[in-house]
Amino acid sequence: MKIIHKIEELKNILKDKRTLEIGLVPTMGALHEGHASLIKKSVEQNDFTVVSVFVNPVQFGINEDFDKYPRTLEKDAKLCENLGADIVFAPAVDEMYQDTKELTLVCPPYSAINKLCGKSRPGHFDGVATVVSKLFNITGCTKAYFGQKDAQQLFIIKKMVKDLNFNVEIVPCPIVRENDGLALSSRNSYLKEESREDALKLYKALKYAKELRQKGINDRQILCDSALKILEGTLVDYIEIVNPETFEDWQDEKEPALMLIAAKIAPTDTRLIDNMEI
Ligand code: PAF
Repeated sequence: MKIIHKIEELKNILKDKRTLEIGLVPTMGALHEGHASLIKKSVEQNDFTVVSVFVNPVQFGINEDFDKYPRTLEKDAKLCENLGADIVFAPAVDEMYQDTKELTLVCPPYSAINKLCGKSRPGHFDGVATVVSKLFNITGCTKAYFGQKDAQQLFIIKKMVKDLNFNVEIVPCPIVRENDGLALSSRNSYLKEESREDALKLYKALKYAKELRQKGINDRQILCDSALKILEGTLVDYIEIVNPETFEDWQDEKEPALMLIAAKIAPTDTRLIDNMEI
């Protein structure tokens, strides 16, 4: 397995692989079992797998954790190699962006970003759509793998692929959880031992809402309020129910319902997200 830092070098390697199925797993590193499941799937389904490891400054707001985001390239590369990936693409910021202030951005429509994470993180999804477009163009991948934990991101990327006619199949991969239910996330490394109980409240709230639905409760307010009670002790950013196909507000009990939660966990103010079809 090779670690490549330069775009031209990667393009040269991939030039004679145009007839092959190329799988891309875009990541920001600090890889965990959730990422491992994406990489395994790509290795199974493609002739060649590229894992990108790039902490993308354009998707972080000014008061967010870009500087402290965990960077563990050596360990990440070992995991990728063990899982059978062919290339880790780990460019420096100035290799990807000559000037982040004068950058052509890919901007998802307002209707897709005026809610949930897009509302609390202005500009975030422009940064995600832009870097993912660049990675698609650089690698010429035929399939790309994204985790369902970032449900709004997945929705936006699928829409972007359709709207901009990218020749890439998006493969959604299920959320991977710890035994107690905590969804795996690179940001879990910020959590203190004593905050675990609070961190688990996101999963517990989602599970409880699902149980209520199974008992026949379909009132959105009751479902959200009941979940909110379980989240006491965390700083809830949002709790919403949407139709997972359209990401519009869930209106009708016959529609599928996806509940999404974002909450900050003390004392490190770690912002966690999670979701579940309820
Ligand atoms: O989900 C992530 O880790 C990032 O948003 C992504 C898709 C790698 C783009 O930087």
